[in-house]
Amino acid sequence: MEKRIVVLPGDGIGKEVTKGAVEVLQAVGERFGHQFHFTYGSIGGEAIDTYGTPLPDETIQHCKDSDAVLLGAVGGPKWDTQPPHLRPERGLLKIRKELNLYANLRPTSYYDSLAENSPLKKEYIENVDLLFVRELTGGLYFGKPSERVERDGKEAVVDTLYYQKSEMERVIKLAFELAEKRDQKVTSVDKANVLESSRMWREVADEISRQFPNVELEHMLVDNAAMQLVTNPKRFDVIVTENMFGDILSDEASVLTGSLGMSASASLSEDGPSLYEPIHGSAPDIAGQNIANPLAAILSAAMMLRLSFGMQEEAKAVETAVNQVLDAGYRTKDIGRTVNNYVSTSEMINEVKAMILDHEAIM
Ligand code: NAD
Ligand code: IPM
Ligand code: MN
Repeated sequence: MEKRIVVLPGDGIGKEVTKGAVEVLQAVGERFGHQFHFTYGSIGGEAIDTYGTPLPDETIQHCKDSDAVLLGAVGGPKWDTQPPHLRPERGLLKIRKELNLYANLRPTSYYDSLAENSPLKKEYIENVDLLFVRELTGGLYFGKPSERVERDGKEAVVDTLYYQKSEMERVIKLAFELAEKRDQKVTSVDKANVLESSRMWREVADEISRQFPNVELEHMLVDNAAMQLVTNPKRFDVIVTENMFGDILSDEASVLTGSLGMSASASLSEDGPSLYEPIHGSAPDIAGQNIANPLAAILSAAMMLRLSFGMQEEAKAVETAVNQVLDAGYRTKDIGRTVNNYVSTSEMINEVKAMILDHEAIM
């Protein structure tokens, strides 16, 4: 098959880890006889520096004309004092909106080889396999107004939590469809004891659940969910939640089975190309040192192969290669609690590539 992939490396370690995902996809192309055509686009801080905007129109069009998009990360201290419309993060939010990326799938699965790296004891995390379905184009991130105001003569500020019912319906429905193919359980996370938006979310989840008699639905308040994720993560299968709660809880969940640097994601479009991105950020504290973990980006590329291109075998090959490299003991620093010698970003990338091309390791 031939596929056009737009790569948006962004800032900081975004550049280092997307390089890994691209090289791994090239190895997959070589091994399975596909042609992946990569082109590059500008986003985030580097786009601000070059074009004066965090998301040039050319980048948007370029992404719309592709089969899938691979993103690194955006942001960094250099741009933290910019006005809101000139922040790198604004570029990320805009591309999510422009491509209609309504659902962000963030899996957390157990790696036996990394059990010692988790802050939790093995008995709590063994075989954890959960999937966040995070609403990605609504809620507090996009509601208007979002601004400084003067109210009652006081200096004040307003952010707006706005959702259309249909935006809740489409993402919750997807969560049920995915749960049907997994362990048939959806946990809908909200703050219905306080927020009106959550009370509507809960009603919608109840309505949708009637279409899925084989899937169990439970409602859980977000504070309780944060607690249960670290005390009893095995109880979860699919967790569906609004934008901000999903952002926070998925970072928390990522460390259960390893590190933030292991957590991949797929941002699915309703009507065009989807985008694949590690859940971590640009990690300014380690950027440029060749020590970042590239596996979240590489595993995001595996999600691209499976979900955008229908390449099951190829996706499996990438995941198997990652597992085998971990089983063989290769560790970047973030997952290196039990080893003395870490490998660099580029060494890790090379090991995964070599494994994919090794016909004996991966049949
Ligand atoms: P971060 O995710 O960049 O980093 C948090 C911590 O995790 C840091 O200590 C970092 O070194 C570590 N880490 C992250 N990814 C890693 C990897 N692959 N390997 C090893 N260690 C890794 O979050 P932050 O520090 O809060 O944010 C930094 C910048 O990134 C901010 O500007 C923020 O807005 C941005 N950000 C962007 C995205 C994105 O583009 N999708 C996501 C989150 C944060
Ligand atoms: C993520 C990030 C972004 C988000 C930021 C950078 C806007 O944290 O992709 O998880 O909150 O969605
Ligand atoms: Mn986040």
